[in-house]
Amino acid sequence: MADEKKMVGEVYYPAPEVVAHAHIRDYEKVHADASADLAKFWGKVAAENYEWFQPWEQTLDDDNAPFYKWFKGAKVNIVHNALDRHMRTAVRNKAALIFEGEPGDTKVYTYQQLHYQVSKFASVLRAMGVQKGDRVTIYMGRIPELIIAMLACAKIGAIHSVVYGGFSTEALHERIDDSQSKVLITCDGAWLRGTIIELKKIANEAVDRSGTIQSVICVKRTGMDVEMVQGRDYWYHDLMALPIADPTAPTQVMDAEDPLFILYTSGTTGKPKAILHTHGGYMVWTSTTLKWVFDIKPEDVWWCAADPGWITGHSYIVYAPLILGATSVMYEGAPTYPYPDRWWSLIAKYGVTILYTAPTAIRGLMRFGESWPNKHDLSTLRLLGSVGEPINPEAWRWYHRVIGKEKCPIMDTWWQTETGGFMITPLPCVPLKPGSATRAFPGVDIDVVDEDGHPVAANEEGFLVIKSPWPGMLRTIFGDPDRYVQQYWSRFAEQGWYLPGDSAKKDEDGYIWVIGRIDDVIKVSGYRLGTAEIESALVSHSAVAEAAVIGVPDELRGNIIKAYCILRQGWEGSEKLEHMLKDHVAHEMGPIAKPSTIEFVDNLPKTRSGKIMRRILKARVMGQDVGDLSTLAD
Ligand code: WT7
Repeated sequence: MADEKKMVGEVYYPAPEVVAHAHIRDYEKVHADASADLAKFWGKVAAENYEWFQPWEQTLDDDNAPFYKWFKGAKVNIVHNALDRHMRTAVRNKAALIFEGEPGDTKVYTYQQLHYQVSKFASVLRAMGVQKGDRVTIYMGRIPELIIAMLACAKIGAIHSVVYGGFSTEALHERIDDSQSKVLITCDGAWLRGTIIELKKIANEAVDRSGTIQSVICVKRTGMDVEMVQGRDYWYHDLMALPIADPTAPTQVMDAEDPLFILYTSGTTGKPKAILHTHGGYMVWTSTTLKWVFDIKPEDVWWCAADPGWITGHSYIVYAPLILGATSVMYEGAPTYPYPDRWWSLIAKYGVTILYTAPTAIRGLMRFGESWPNKHDLSTLRLLGSVGEPINPEAWRWYHRVIGKEKCPIMDTWWQTETGGFMITPLPCVPLKPGSATRAFPGVDIDVVDEDGHPVAANEEGFLVIKSPWPGMLRTIFGDPDRYVQQYWSRFAEQGWYLPGDSAKKDEDGYIWVIGRIDDVIKVSGYRLGTAEIESALVSHSAVAEAAVIGVPDELRGNIIKAYCILRQGWEGSEKLEHMLKDHVAHEMGPIAKPSTIEFVDNLPKTRSGKIMRRILKARVMGQDVGDLSTLAD
C-alpha cells in the first residue's frame, strides 16, 4: 500500500489501480518475510515456480563463504524452465519473441518455434564435439540467432560467453583466449544506422590472434561477402539443414550450481573479469525480480531495449521473460534510424506495455523533442524502467510525462553484471523519487557505510555494501577465484560483506541514491569500461609510450573518455595523430571505447610506487581542488 507517512522531497505515490494489479502489494511485509529467513523464503519461491529434476538438500550453503551455494544438490536446467516445460501448456503457442530488424524485416517466434530451433542447434553443437562445461564464444548482432545460440549452449550444459557486438578485434581476442573457447558463433554483419558492422571480418582477425578456436559458425544476416576459412568455418543455415540438427535433442541434466555462462566485465585493474553465473540461483533470481518489479502478466508485451551481449540482455531479454512465459520485443538497430521516432513507432506497432531502457537512451531521444513520441499511440504502456547509471531527474520527468503520460511508474533498477538481477529497485507499490533507485529488493540487505563499516548519517556519501547472499549472485570469476575474493569480499572481509564498487547516499526515508563508481570504471552511455583496457589499447599503438584515461561528465552520455598520452621518441602530437589513435582504439576495443579527446603530455601524475593518479587528472579537468597530494612522486 502507498506509504501514508509524508516523505521528504519530490515523491510520486503509486496509483491505487497500479498497486491493485501488482504481484507484490505490500513491500514492507514481503521484505521483512524474506529478510527474516532467506533460505526459507527463497526455498519456497524456488519450489513453487520452477521444475527441478531433483530437489535440493540445502537451500543455502554458506560453509565456504564467499563461495556460497544455493539449492545445493538439486538437478535442473534453466532451458527446461525457459522452454521445454512450456511445450505442455498453452504458452507453447504464444509469441516468445517479436523481432524487428533495422531494415524493417520482422519475425515472430512462438515458444514452440523457439524450442524447435534451440533443440536443433543444440544437437548441432553436440555433433561438433561441444560438451558439458566447454566454453563457446558468441559474437553477434541483435538477432534471434543470438538468443538461439545462447539457449542451445545452456541446453547441452556448455558455458556461453557472449561478447558484445560493439566490441572489436582485441577485446574479442582477449575474451576468447581467457575463456579458452573452442567454438565461436558469429554472423556476417550487423545492421546499424543503415550501414553494416562487419562482424565476421573482426571475428576472423580475432581468431587469427587466438590459439583456441577450432570451429566458427556464421549466421547469414546481411548477405554481404565474407571470408570463410575452409575446414574451420561453417554457415549456420547449412548446419541447421543437416540431419544432425535434431529437434528432439534432450536437455542436459545439470547441478543447480553448474555454470550457465560467463560474461566479461571491466573492473578496477588489468584484464576484464569473467563473471560466472549458475543454472539454479540465477534462474530463480532473474525471473522473480522481473515478475515482481515489472509486474509481468500473461497479456504483457515486454520490451527490454538492451543488447543481449550485456547482462541486462542475458537476464531480461533472454532468460527471465522466457522462464515467465512472457512475450518479448527485440529490435536490431539504432533508436534514431531512419528517424528519431523508431522506438515510439515500435511501441505502437506491437502494443508494448512495459519499456525498460537506459538513461542515456532517454536523454538521446529527449533531444529531438516531444513531437516525435507524440506522433504515436503510446497508450498501451503501463510501466517504464531505467538501468545502467543514475537517471537525472530531468530525464526521469520527461520519461514520466512524455512517454508514460504521467500514469506509468518508473522502475529505476540498480544492479550489476555480478548481481545477476535487480538489487535496489522500486516495486510498483513503492513511492518513487526521481533519481533514486529507492529500496532494496525483498531479502536484499543493502547499506551505505563509511571506511570502517559504520552506517553513514542520512544524506552522507559512503560505500554501498550488500550484507547477505542472494540466489542470483556471481559464484566466482572464471579461472581466478582469488581475484573474486580480493575484488568483492576483501574490503569488508571481517563483516563478510560484498562490495559492489559504487558510492551512494541514503536519505531520511531510507531511499538509496547511487552516485557512481569508486574505482577506475567509466560508464559511457551506460556501458561499463575499464580505464586499464582503453589504456592498453592506446599503448598498443607504436606512437604511444604511456597513457592515462579518465571519464569526464557529459550531459548525453553520462561520461565521455578523455585520454592523456606520452609519445615515444620520434613522434609528435598532432591532430592527425589524435585521429589515428582514436581509430586505433575503436579498431582494437570497439567504437564505444573511443576517446573523445586525447591530450599529448610530457608526464603523468604518479604515486611513488608508479601508479597513475587519475583523480588528479580528473580534478584538473573539472576545475576542482586536487586534494591530498602527499603520495605524488614529484
Ligand atoms: C554498474 C554496473 C545492471 C545492468 C547494466 C549495468 C551502475 C547500474 C544503475 C542505476 C545508478 C547504476 C552502477 C553499477 N548502475 N544501474 N539504476 N542507478 N547506477 O551493469 O555493466 O555491470 O554495471 O552500473 O555503477 O555498479 P554493469
